[in-house]
Amino acid sequence: MWFMRQAGRHLPEYLELRGRAKDFLDFCYTPSLATEATLQPIRRYGMDGAILFADILLILDAMGRNVRFEKGVGPLVEVIETAGDLLKVPAPTVAERLSPVYETVSRVRAGLPDETTLIGFAGSPWTVALYALEGRGKTDKSTARGWAHDRADELQRVLDVLVEASAHYLKRQVDAGAEALMLFDSWAEGLPNDVFAQIIIEPTRKLVARLRELGVGVPIIGFPRGAGAMLPIYARETGVTAVGLDTSVVPDYVNDVLPKGMPVQGHLDPLLLIAGGQRLDDRVRYLMKAYEGRPHIFNLGHGVLPQTPIAHVERVVEIVRGG
Ligand code: CP3
Repeated sequence: MWFMRQAGRHLPEYLELRGRAKDFLDFCYTPSLATEATLQPIRRYGMDGAILFADILLILDAMGRNVRFEKGVGPLVEVIETAGDLLKVPAPTVAERLSPVYETVSRVRAGLPDETTLIGFAGSPWTVALYALEGRGKTDKSTARGWAHDRADELQRVLDVLVEASAHYLKRQVDAGAEALMLFDSWAEGLPNDVFAQIIIEPTRKLVARLRELGVGVPIIGFPRGAGAMLPIYARETGVTAVGLDTSVVPDYVNDVLPKGMPVQGHLDPLLLIAGGQRLDDRVRYLMKAYEGRPHIFNLGHGVLPQTPIAHVERVVEIVRGG
């Protein structure tokens, strides 16, 4: 059990820590602060998994794109025109700029209880590309999706650049002590199936294969949020070890269509975690029962929201632990 965004604004100790950094990027690049942010939810809740405190957009920052986190707006990224815009900073320099992240990984590993798994992560190539093409998160994804049709070769090059950079970034996280990896594909929803195959399945398959080629043996959790009916194809064809499930999936369907024995992670509604009460207790028990027949990492279907009461997280932990 662990929760996406378990570190973050619902914790008063996080808000205190966050106030010490100049801005969010500075926070992510300061190993002492990022280490503490990673460990805070472990101390408070005793989660089985600790997720590295960082962000999927650091890789774009390291590649020389301007990345800002605007309060109330979310991330803003300097838009690219071609794949070449992601190649301006030489690969060794990109790796060097990300070295504070590896330093955080090794400090976290040293500070964690032995039984707690440290999870490293990156955004999947498509989700990172989306920010680079749109400049921000965008529900209709029209620019980025348009490229899939009218600039397909250039989009392919963008995704290939991100596959290669992400593979090295993730390998360095594993070398520093990450024991599992997660690929966040937050913008996988609403894509035509041929486009999904082209921009989600194929780059994820290449990234997983490249990691294995680089000698990375740890489990890889793929999280194609909103994949819908493409989920079983994603699970079968990308080579990921486990799949993260979003709030919309139906457990019976998942059990029918996913390979037998494939581990799943998810998928409690973050809004129910805010609401609490009997419905929360019942739903937690329902999800645990639904996935009794396969390995199940209890988690949310998306991240913990800032207004989440700590007592509700504690209640879920208690139930999952058998209370
Ligand atoms: O606890 C954890 O989950 C670990 C750290 C983590 C963060 N971002 C910290 C963060 C992880 C794994 C991420 C991944 C991430 N970042 C994703 C994929 C997951 C998802 O949410 O779909 C995406 C799309 C991003 C990009 C991003 N970063 C957005 C859209 C935002 C703004 C949203 C918000 O909640 O304000 C961020 C900022 C961010 N990343 C925060 C945190 C804790 C909030 C920053 C703050 O303290 O103000």
